[in-house]
Amino acid sequence: MGRKHTVTFEPVDVEMEVDEDETILDAAFRQGIMLMHGCREGQCSACKSFVVEGEVDMDKYSTFALPDFEEAEGFTLLCKAHAVSDLTIELVNFDEDALRDALPLVTTEAEVLEISRLTPDIFRLALQLPDDKLAFHPGQYVDIQMPEEGVKHRSFSMSNTPGPSGRLEFMIKLYPDAYFAGMLDRAEAAGGSGANGKGALAIGDKLTVVGPYGAFTLRESERPLVFIGGGAGMAPIFSLVTSMVEKQIDRPAVFYYGARTEGDLFHVAEITALAEQLPNLRFVPVLSHCADDDTSWTGERGMVTDVVDRLEGDLAGADAYLCGPPPMVDAAIALLERHQVPADQIHFDKFTTTTD
Ligand SMILES: Cc1cc2nc3c(=O)[nH]c(=O)nc-3n(C[C@H](O)[C@H](O)[C@H](O)COP(=O)(O)OP(=O)(O)OC[C@H]3O[C@@H](n4cnc5c(N)ncnc54)[C@H](O)[C@@H]3O)c2cc1C
Ligand code: FES
Repeated sequence: MGRKHTVTFEPVDVEMEVDEDETILDAAFRQGIMLMHGCREGQCSACKSFVVEGEVDMDKYSTFALPDFEEAEGFTLLCKAHAVSDLTIELVNFDEDALRDALPLVTTEAEVLEISRLTPDIFRLALQLPDDKLAFHPGQYVDIQMPEEGVKHRSFSMSNTPGPSGRLEFMIKLYPDAYFAGMLDRAEAAGGSGANGKGALAIGDKLTVVGPYGAFTLRESERPLVFIGGGAGMAPIFSLVTSMVEKQIDRPAVFYYGARTEGDLFHVAEITALAEQLPNLRFVPVLSHCADDDTSWTGERGMVTDVVDRLEGDLAGADAYLCGPPPMVDAAIALLERHQVPADQIHFDKFTTTTD
């Protein structure tokens, strides 16, 4: 245990205690305070805030998330900052309602129920919790501890909504040489029985999960909604849209989803079924790598953000939810800024990689 300091957050007038040994974000989790965050790894910039008074020490972070000039101006990343004095911090992004309403962090063992292939390189993983104690909001994620000692956790967003079944479902993308998705690939190829050898996973295995994390949750408002997703970024958006059906939130909404080819598109029937229950929801799948002479695809083509730009008129009055690989999310944020969408109406989860 290190020395204790007091952190005061502006403009929300919330005060908490922080130990020098913990990050400010972890101290907030411990005390049920929901600060804005994404990766918790110093990579996405969702937790960027301004140090008005006092001093912080930073663990290693990416200068993409906090460029040196911003650090020099006094900005910090709360997921990497340790207090070395009492602090006053101005929150850049915050949600006053959510701030005092963090769900408790739970560490529990979950059983592998299902590993199946949704596309050539996206898997569904379903886990069964021992009970329904891990409460989460649609759009949130958990950390899954890796079965091998010394390998860092991976974060995955739930694609389903919370419920009494205690089931967690995920959509997980396979990259070349991927550690965890590679395990899913081998397990699926072996019919779920677990490939022999190191790094195998099988139905019935236990995985430790920690959560819920994340601020990619649906905020109450009357504004129209624009969802933009790519690849496995479908997961939290599918959860949010499902929750809209469950809560009968029929705000005008459009879901742009980018995939490379028709073979990479998935869950179209499931989204269509949700849209049938939400008459104000439109689904616009977009293919980025559809051959020019392929006439079988009659939908949208190109980069998903270019299609949003072309088809949407005035976005300034919309709430936007973006999720997927960091370059797609960055392109979507830039597009929304060009469309004068205020920062507090832009919500995103970047699927950054876990780094040691
Ligand atoms: C908040 C949050 C939520 C997330 N939710 C999901 C989710 O729901 N589904 C999901 O699939 N992932 C999600 N991720 C990413 C996930 O945590 C892992 O980092 C990712 O799945 C890779 O893990 P792996 O062990 O399979 O591959 P690794 O062994 O970590 O990586 C294998 C290789 O793939 C490359 N790679 C990994 N990710 C990318 C990428 N985005 N773009 C290009 N190359 C990449 C790596 O650089 C490496 O070379 C999320 C990340 C965050 C921060
Ligand atoms: S940089 Fe802090 S949460 Fe991503």
